[in-house]
Amino acid sequence: MFVHQLVLQICILSQIVLCAPSTKELVGTWSSKSNTVFTGPGFYDPVDELIIEPDLPGISYSFTEDGHFEEALYRITSDPQNHSCAVASITYQHGTYDLLSNGSLILTPIAVDGRQLLSDPCNGDSATHSSYTRYLQKTWFKAFRVYLNDYHGRYTLQLYQFDGSQMQPLFLAYKPPLMLPTYALNPTDKASETKSSLRKRVKRSLENQYRTTAVKSSSHDNYDFFWWTAVASIGIGSSILFLR
Ligand SMILES: *[C@@H]1O[C@H](CO)[C@@H](O)[C@H](O)[C@H]1NC(C)=O
Ligand SMILES: *[C@@H]1O[C@H](CO)[C@@H](O)[C@H](O)[C@H]1NC(C)=O
Repeated sequence: MFVHQLVLQICILSQIVLCAPSTKELVGTWSSKSNTVFTGPGFYDPVDELIIEPDLPGISYSFTEDGHFEEALYRITSDPQNHSCAVASITYQHGTYDLLSNGSLILTPIAVDGRQLLSDPCNGDSATHSSYTRYLQKTWFKAFRVYLNDYHGRYTLQLYQFDGSQMQPLFLAYKPPLMLPTYALNPTDKASETKSSLRKRVKRSLENQYRTTAVKSSSHDNYDFFWWTAVASIGIGSSILFLR
């Protein structure tokens, strides 16, 4: 996999257009190392508007090729002063994304659908110290890259935050992605949408999705494709270096 790293280096150094990130590489469900958090119906139940707490913290993102994303985050911020005071947040959002020509990625959530469960045991005056609210946070990633991780042998998505800092690496878990329906699940302007009709719509969408695949990704699918891309890019990369 030395070749692949070399290609990456060449792409970073020369910033040639052919190496520009594409939405194709983003497609799938990506999950952090804990492998406990995945987007889709196991994380959020849109009919009863319930977040299903994963066993361990972690984050997951899904992307479709036609510009939809889903986000599932379970994060704990520890309090070094008092371990009982750690703040836990579980967040669900989905919506559309744009890949800018300079490689930045912008996630625009559907406002009515985002939810956050927040637990802050040492603050707030309610008895439970937790809240469940609507949530809307537009997210801007400065850049991303997808590569085959030598050590884990898995496709890896590295997202860079707006300030350029690296997020924890995400590994490909499902391709095609495991996601809830991509349209607005709680249309406030459609009073006619009943729970049972929404339940039917969600069910149908998930059934169709499972029928069309959503298989657990094996480490080496698309290997040939990557290899040939790598070889082709090296040719281009080296001639560019040669011209300099
Ligand atoms: C830590 O926080 C808990 C919950 O508020 C409190 O009961 C406990 O006394 C605190 N411990 C220390 C060492 O401050
Ligand atoms: C890409 O363009 C956006 C919008 O013009 C800008 O805010 C952002 O800083 C650019 N990203 C990079 C990596 O230069």
